[in-house]
Amino acid sequence: MGAGLARFQDRIALVTGAGSGIGRATCERIAAEGGSVACADLDGSAAEAVAQALRAGGSRALGVACDVSDADAVEGAVARTREELGGLDVLVNSAGILHFTHTHEETLDAWNRVLAVNLTGTFLACRAALPHFVEQGRGVIVNMSSTAALKAHAWAAAYSASKGGVQALTFELAVEYGKQGVRANCVCAGGIQTPIHESFQLPEGADPSLLRRIMPFTGFRGPEDCAAVIAFLASDDAAHVNGEFVRVDGAMCA
Ligand SMILES: NC(=O)c1ccc[n+]([C@@H]2O[C@H](COP(=O)([O-])OP(=O)(O)OC[C@H]3O[C@@H](n4cnc5c(N)ncnc54)[C@H](O)[C@@H]3O)[C@@H](O)[C@H]2O)c1
Repeated sequence: MGAGLARFQDRIALVTGAGSGIGRATCERIAAEGGSVACADLDGSAAEAVAQALRAGGSRALGVACDVSDADAVEGAVARTREELGGLDVLVNSAGILHFTHTHEETLDAWNRVLAVNLTGTFLACRAALPHFVEQGRGVIVNMSSTAALKAHAWAAAYSASKGGVQALTFELAVEYGKQGVRANCVCAGGIQTPIHESFQLPEGADPSLLRRIMPFTGFRGPEDCAAVIAFLASDDAAHVNGEFVRVDGAMCA
């Protein structure tokens, strides 16, 4: 993993949604390239298990229980990262949730929860990290958007709106903070095999042909294929890439 690269030596990253899937693979990739990683997740024991595995492999890593929709918890995660790992250079927002439902049957609570985690949670983590990034004149944000921001995904109104919001937020940050040394990019993933796919429960009476149009025709890929692109965007190899989205979807949206 990492093909012998060491792009994160002396770099400290905070990854949300680190207990599973793309977040976990990103922690592993950054650590494999020499980085120190704070692994934050709603599931604190999953976050700690990832951190423990990284420490067992010789990396510096910290597990943090954190609900990204809770502003105080997010501020606390950033503070712990800085105190216990010694700084913060990279923020990866991978925490996310999804459910399928007919939009006319979506409850306000379910809509609000998806927006709170996927969009507000991304904003809260960026807000907590930005003062530090600005102060040191350097910082990188990589946000997880989705093909849902680019191509309609039926039965996923809240998720699609949240991921469109994440993309717009990312572009906004790139312009507002670019001159202060901060880069912000996002990844529009699709067809990455992770536990989030357990949420792909078709609502009653749904037309399955609408699901087929968002299936990756070259097959599902592992989260490490997404983590490799996140690592590129988070590294100095992408020093002049700012306010960009990168599709990691096997041409689903091409
Ligand atoms: N897998 C895909 O094909 C795909 C496609 C497009 C976008 N994404 C996005 O990638 C990101 C990672 O998804 P994944 O596929 O790895 O899914 P996953 O379910 O494997 O991982 C998501 C992680 O987020 C955590 N999480 C959920 N709510 C949280 C909260 N409130 N606070 C902190 N952590 C929380 C979960 O505990 C879990 O560990 C998500 O934002 C998702 O929307 C995934």
